[in-house]
Amino acid sequence: MSRLYSPSVITISASRLASRIDALARFGGLPGGGVTRPCWSPQHEEARAWLTGEMRAAGLETWVDGAGNVFGALGIHAFSADGGAVLTGSHIDTVPEGGVLDGALGVLAGLEAFQTIREAKAPHRRPLAVAAWSDEEGRYGSLFGSRAFCGRFDPARVEAMAASDGERLVDAMARAGFDARRAGEAMAPGGAVAAYVELHIEQGPRLEEAAIPIGVVDSIVGVHRTRVVFVGQADHAGTTPMERRRDGFLAAAEYALKARDLVLKHGGGKSVTNVGVVRVHPGVTNIVPARGELVHEVRGPDRETLARLDRRSAALARRVARRRGVEVQVEAMSATTPAICSARVQAAIEAACATLGLRSTHLYSAAGHDAQNLATITDTGMIFIPSKGGRSHRVDETSDGDAIERGANVLLHTLLALAA
Ligand code: GLV
Ligand code: MN
Ligand code: MN
Repeated sequence: MSRLYSPSVITISASRLASRIDALARFGGLPGGGVTRPCWSPQHEEARAWLTGEMRAAGLETWVDGAGNVFGALGIHAFSADGGAVLTGSHIDTVPEGGVLDGALGVLAGLEAFQTIREAKAPHRRPLAVAAWSDEEGRYGSLFGSRAFCGRFDPARVEAMAASDGERLVDAMARAGFDARRAGEAMAPGGAVAAYVELHIEQGPRLEEAAIPIGVVDSIVGVHRTRVVFVGQADHAGTTPMERRRDGFLAAAEYALKARDLVLKHGGGKSVTNVGVVRVHPGVTNIVPARGELVHEVRGPDRETLARLDRRSAALARRVARRRGVEVQVEAMSATTPAICSARVQAAIEAACATLGLRSTHLYSAAGHDAQNLATITDTGMIFIPSKGGRSHRVDETSDGDAIERGANVLLHTLLALAA
C-alpha cells in the first residue's frame, strides 16, 4: 500500500493484528472458511480464555464481569465511579456461519492499539479499556453484555430469555460458569466511562462503492424482534378437503409476504425487515401444519416509526389469522434503541483521519452494535472500514488488510485524542 502516515505518527503493527485475527478465527472456525461461535458455547469460552491470555501477555490488566464481558485495560484493574476511562471494544461471539471480522476486528484492534500505546509509552491522561461484550449477536437477547454494563438489563426477564431453538440463557451461562441472574451486577458505576469508540467493518457496500476508506458513524439502527405464531389444526394432508384446512404455515407465509410490503409502504425510507426464523409444526409432509411460527425483525433509525410498524404488523397478523380461520399470538421479544453518535467523538475520529491523511464520510449504521447501549451512558462513536462486496453475516465476509490497518490506526489516534 502507499503509506500516507508520516514517520513521526505512531502506528499499530498490522502483522500482529492480522495474526491475532487469524488465531481468533480458529475458535469455531468452519472447514470452508467463516466461523460459528455463539456466546457461551465451548468455542466461545475457549476464545475468551485465549483473548484474556493475549491481553495479559500484552501487558493489560484483565477482568471478566458478571455478564461475561471481558476487559483489558491500561491504568485500571476495574471500573470506578468517575474514573473517566476511555473505552473501546466490540464482541467475539458470531452469528452461525458468520465471518471472522464482525466483532473480532474491534476487540483485537483495541488490544493492538493499547499494546502500541504501551510499547511507545504514548501519553494518555485517562485510563484506557477494551471490552469484548457478551452475546452482541443476541442469541439469547439483544446486545446482552453491553446492555448489562449500561444498566439496561431487566432481571425480571432473565428466566424467560432463550435462543430461538429454545435453549435458555440461564442454562447456557451456567455451563460457561456464569450466573445469569447476577448479570445486572455488571452495571458500570456512574462516570466510569468518559467516552466509547468502536471499530467495526461496515457490513454493507457504501464505503467500498464510494472508494472512501473510513466511515464516521453518525447514528445506529434500532431493531425490534417479534415472535408471531399462527395456530391452526393438524389434519391429514391427503384426506382433508382443501377448503377445510386451517394451515398454520400458510398463514405464516402470507403474513411474511404482507409484512414486507407493509414495512416498505409505511416505514421511513430506511426501514428494513426480515423473517429469519421459521418453524413448522409438526413438520412432516403428510400433516397439514398445526403451527407456523416466525421471528419477524424490523429495523430503522426512528423509534416512533418502529413502534408504528409494530402496531401495524400485529394488526396484519390478526387480519391474516381471521381470514384463514386460525389463532395468532404476537409476542415482543426484544427491542434495541436507535442511537445518535456524539459530535465530540465524531470530531475526534475525523481529526484522527486528518492526522493519518485518510478521507472519511458520515454513515448511518443499519447493523446493531454495542455502541448504541454505550451511547446511553457516555459520548459514543464508531469507525467503519469497507467490507469487501458489502458482505457480512456470511462466511466470506472480509476486508482488505490495508483497510484493517487504516481502521486500527484511526482507532489508535482517536483513543489517544479522547484520553489526552
Ligand atoms: C448485528 O450484527 C445485527 O444484527 O445488526
Ligand atoms: Mn453481527
Ligand atoms: Mn458486530
